Amino acid sequence: MMSCAVVCKDAKKGKKPVVWVPFDMHLSSILLFLSVGALLKCAAGSEWCYTGCEHTPSHWGDVSSFCLDKRQSPIDIATGYVKTDPNLLNFTFVNFTSQNVIKSITNNGHTVKCKLAEDAVEVSGGGLNATYSALQFHFHWGDKEHHPGSEHTINRHRYPMEMHIVSLKKDLTVQGAKEDSEGIAVLGFFINATEDGDMSGPWSTLTSYLANITSVDAEVNITHAISINDLIGSVDLTKFYRYMGSLTTPDCNEAVVWTVFQEPININKNLIQLFPMKTSLSNVYRPTQNLNTRQVYASPATHLPPGHSWCYDDHCSYSPSYWHVLPHSHCGGERQSPINIDTKTTVEDENLDDFTFTKFDDKHAIKYITNTGHAVKCVLKEDMVEVSGGGLEHVYSTLQFHFHWGSHESDGSEHTVDSKRYPMEMHIVNKRKDLTLEQAVQTPDGLAVLGFFIQVTDSTKSGGGSEHHETNSPSQSTSDMDAWKKLTSYLPAIKNISSQVEVTKEISIDDLLGKVSRAEFYRYNGSLTTPSCNEAVVWTVFKETVKVDDNLMKMFPTQAGYHDVFRPAQQLHSRTIYTKSASSTPGPIIQFLLLACLCAFFI
Ligand SMILES: *[C@@H]1O[C@H](CO)[C@@H](O)[C@H](O)[C@H]1NC(C)=O
Ligand SMILES: *[C@@H]1O[C@H](CO)[C@@H](O)[C@H](O)[C@H]1NC(C)=O
Ligand SMILES: *[C@@H]1O[C@H](CO)[C@@H](O)[C@H](O)[C@H]1NC(C)=O
Ligand SMILES: *[C@@H]1O[C@H](CO)[C@@H](O)[C@H](O)[C@H]1NC(C)=O
Ligand SMILES: *[C@@H]1O[C@H](CO)[C@@H](O)[C@H](O)[C@H]1NC(C)=O
Ligand SMILES: *[C@@H]1O[C@H](CO)[C@@H](O)[C@H](O)[C@H]1NC(C)=O
Ligand SMILES: *[C@@H]1O[C@H](CO)[C@@H](O)[C@H](O)[C@H]1NC(C)=O
Ligand SMILES: [Zn+2]
Ligand SMILES: [Zn+2]
Repeated sequence: MMSCAVVCKDAKKGKKPVVWVPFDMHLSSILLFLSVGALLKCAAGSEWCYTGCEHTPSHWGDVSSFCLDKRQSPIDIATGYVKTDPNLLNFTFVNFTSQNVIKSITNNGHTVKCKLAEDAVEVSGGGLNATYSALQFHFHWGDKEHHPGSEHTINRHRYPMEMHIVSLKKDLTVQGAKEDSEGIAVLGFFINATEDGDMSGPWSTLTSYLANITSVDAEVNITHAISINDLIGSVDLTKFYRYMGSLTTPDCNEAVVWTVFQEPININKNLIQLFPMKTSLSNVYRPTQNLNTRQVYASPATHLPPGHSWCYDDHCSYSPSYWHVLPHSHCGGERQSPINIDTKTTVEDENLDDFTFTKFDDKHAIKYITNTGHAVKCVLKEDMVEVSGGGLEHVYSTLQFHFHWGSHESDGSEHTVDSKRYPMEMHIVNKRKDLTLEQAVQTPDGLAVLGFFIQVTDSTKSGGGSEHHETNSPSQSTSDMDAWKKLTSYLPAIKNISSQVEVTKEISIDDLLGKVSRAEFYRYNGSLTTPSCNEAVVWTVFKETVKVDDNLMKMFPTQAGYHDVFRPAQQLHSRTIYTKSASSTPGPIIQFLLLACLCAFFI
């Protein structure tokens, strides 16, 4: 054991491993000594780092398998998904104001750590189940080029630095605390850089010691009078996030009750720079880890920004390429929607029979229309409208339909066919009748969505891409423009996001779909196209387009005030897109040709 610790330590410093063995040992016991030592110590204690060694964060799993578990820290805190917990009341801090509990400061090769007087500083309350005794605090930072280096992020925003005050459940040993799922409480404070902050206060005092600990393992005593509260300053300690996580360095033990305070400590950027400059340690933070099934809570005093935290463009924290990092998100999966339908690779499926639509002709089925901030949605009366057949293996109950659109200049359907995007797409969302909505979104065929492309009625008005759309869809498929007029007449009343109005005018889904053929469609297994992108949807995308007047279509971007509300096409991966086999519904022309052939045969 001892000799092997030497091996590891020397390996860390880049020297050749040296194993010291007593002369009188027999070979077999030397081998045993070596192998046991190697197993116990080297395997567990392999050197890790943030950059510049074999075991960077993505390889910490080789150092400790805990680092690969499902309750890891740090995490991104998406405030739109945080729940308020009324039990997260005020903390009680003991000796945070004492100016002689910060004993020493050290550079351990990974961070700068300040040791606290033993059994002097305590934390309780704040929703913690026990009293915790504080051991030390340390820092995570970026680099000299001003790259930020906090460990936690808020809506993907990374602060310049983060301070962690580490406490153990009172009366537990370090080992005992690591084995208790709430054995360690860490208080995390963001540190924000200001241009012209105080250069003479407590942070100036603390950072003045960095010049004394430029080399690894250097440690000096703190002789100045500084308290923890002096460093925390004016941060409101009643505003904080809470979740269950892990240590953010190997062995990544899942023993930490995390508290991350909402307000940052603001300090002068020149003081922040001293950390990378004096220690030569840069970017000492672990990347954010998957939340998995965890929930982040906030204290009642925490102000959670209202509204949505995801969007379709780049003007929010979570644009489509970051939807997969949202809590409980499936957006990074392998059966995502929408997709491009490559008609050359579709496979005929004779099980795709005709649909049965129940109450699609009901003119009073729409309960209300609402502007969700991402789409315009018509919510139907419950347990009234139904869909079955069409190769679906269950009866589905229709919940709502909504629209995706582009702008006045660009198309905005979600699905594309041979890379062609249509002006708009209508989605009729149905839930398996035998499941609750909660169950349905967790079931591979829990939902069935019917997608209809929408095109301009008059081909002369449709702009780009209009040349060929008339070839296979005669103008008779134009839908009931009266129904579309009635529907769009509600749009001015729902200009405000989250507003909704009751629909009293007589509009049926059949009226909106008009004469579009419902016998020709594509079928594939996919997902919801907005977060959390649950992979629970059996998709039907109809081949024929619904035709709507150009001016009515333009009302969607104009009245809603936003445009281009569609998700980019997702990879197909190993999926197959099926299409109804042509033979099962021969069109009139094919029937004619068949007859002609038969006749020719008999002549
Ligand atoms: C919690 O602390 C805040 C500010 O320190 C104080 O205003 C409030 O009264 C405290 N609440 C309770 C329940 O002690
Ligand atoms: C606060 O710290 C001092 C030592 O600095 C210690 O004597 C005192 O007991 C501590 N207070 C508590 C309540 O532990
Ligand atoms: C407090 O204890 C309850 C019950 O054991 C547990 O569910 C909860 O996670 C604990 N909370 C904290 C912050 O440790
Ligand atoms: C962080 O500091 C900048 C100035 O450098 C300031 O504009 C910003 O509001 C601060 N952020 C917070 C959350 O205090
Ligand atoms: C820290 O370094 C400064 C200047 O290099 C020196 O004057 C001071 O004595 C050192 N302090 C300690 C505690 O070693
Ligand atoms: C939208 O909200 C504004 C301000 O809240 C309000 O004055 C206006 O009447 C609302 N408009 C509609 C159509 O509800
Ligand atoms: C969808 O997935 C189910 C289960 O894996 C499979 O049986 C079915 O054939 C798939 N349907 C399509 C259209 O790919
Ligand atoms: Zn830390
Ligand atoms: Zn949709």
